[in-house]
Amino acid sequence: MTDGFNLAAMPSADGVWHHLHLAPEALGAGTPALPDGAIVVAQGAIAWVGAHTDLPDAYRPLPSHDGQGALVTPGLVDCHTHLVYGGQRANEFAMRLAGASYEEVARAGGGIVSSVKATRQASEEALFDAAVPRLQALLAEGVCAIEIKSGYGLSLAHERKQLRVARRLGEVFGVTVRTTFLGAHALPPEYAGRSDDYIRLVCEEMMPALAAEGLVDAVDVFCETIGFTLAQTEQVFQAAQALGLPVKLHAEQLSDMGGSALAARFGALSCDHIEHLSAEGIAAMRQAGTVAVLLPGAYFTLRDTHLPPIADLRAAGVPMAVSTDHNPGTSPALSLLLMVNMACTLFRLTVPEALAGVTRHAAQALGLQATHGRISAGCPANFVLWPLGDVAELAYWLGQRPACSVVRQGRLAVD
Ligand code: NIG
Ligand code: FE
Repeated sequence: MTDGFNLAAMPSADGVWHHLHLAPEALGAGTPALPDGAIVVAQGAIAWVGAHTDLPDAYRPLPSHDGQGALVTPGLVDCHTHLVYGGQRANEFAMRLAGASYEEVARAGGGIVSSVKATRQASEEALFDAAVPRLQALLAEGVCAIEIKSGYGLSLAHERKQLRVARRLGEVFGVTVRTTFLGAHALPPEYAGRSDDYIRLVCEEMMPALAAEGLVDAVDVFCETIGFTLAQTEQVFQAAQALGLPVKLHAEQLSDMGGSALAARFGALSCDHIEHLSAEGIAAMRQAGTVAVLLPGAYFTLRDTHLPPIADLRAAGVPMAVSTDHNPGTSPALSLLLMVNMACTLFRLTVPEALAGVTRHAAQALGLQATHGRISAGCPANFVLWPLGDVAELAYWLGQRPACSVVRQGRLAVD
């Protein structure tokens, strides 16, 4: 199933990259742009970064790569996706256009459960093949790390199948993949009316087994009136904590369930969606260092009008990330830059905030802040060369993928 993808064919990026216009924030929070920067890559990692004039003599003999004045950002991080699933749900798009709400579609047997059916029917190979073009679309735009959730299998065997595909995508494409177990995404039909029994299965059988197989980097729950209750969410978090797994949460998307405050109590990496987040939720997240993950693709697709409390998050200093939430129901989005645009246009983020949202803060939402979302010595070499003159262009173009060059895991990507 790996025919046609050959990591070894990607040339090494080792050497000195010069003529780089290092974008503000490329080197860390609040750093100014460096118009004549250089990056040294050695054995796939960043050995040095700074102004070209400061390049240490020892690096001068290394092979040189001319960046031709390109704008350089860290490799992008897409910190919330449901990339692996069977089928698609364009029919629901039509239902919603005719007036049905997301909740009504879900209650009518559509929604997440219809993707569960298609995912269960698909082989591991078919799921991999279906996910490849989606992943390639994201990679072509500079994504170097991605989170992939389960949650369309809802049984041990089918959740395992999804997570195995996620791991395999990371290996085959040389991209950092963080897997998130979202067994508590929806109630599988065979558990209708028995949600507590299903949560027990998630906590006592599925999660420990999948964690033991090394398939789980974090645990997530859909805490919502059409998902799981606060008490059930807490049970899942307790099980995760007992296994030493970090948690995150689909929180306050359609209503204020108080999920964010609960997640913060468990030291959650992130709370995601959060359109209905309360002041108490914000305070709890700030105290816990939990990242607010904004998902404008789902907001847009559902034609939501209830904005997340951006100004209050900003005032509280809660780090904000931006992600595609790629999924077949509420966000069939395959462009992280389009999400950057929407985060600015719909949610009123500034360009630097949105850029931090798909680099530094997105890495933090995955617990990867030490190694991803920044360009600094010791980190794996993940950076993007954009043929753009102004950093605001990353948020500005609509529906046009800038022809960027991507250095991913120390190799020049040819996706
Ligand atoms: O992030 N909100 C729950 N989960 C997904 C939607 C999944 C689906 O509709 O298939 C989300 O929006
Ligand atoms: Fe989601």
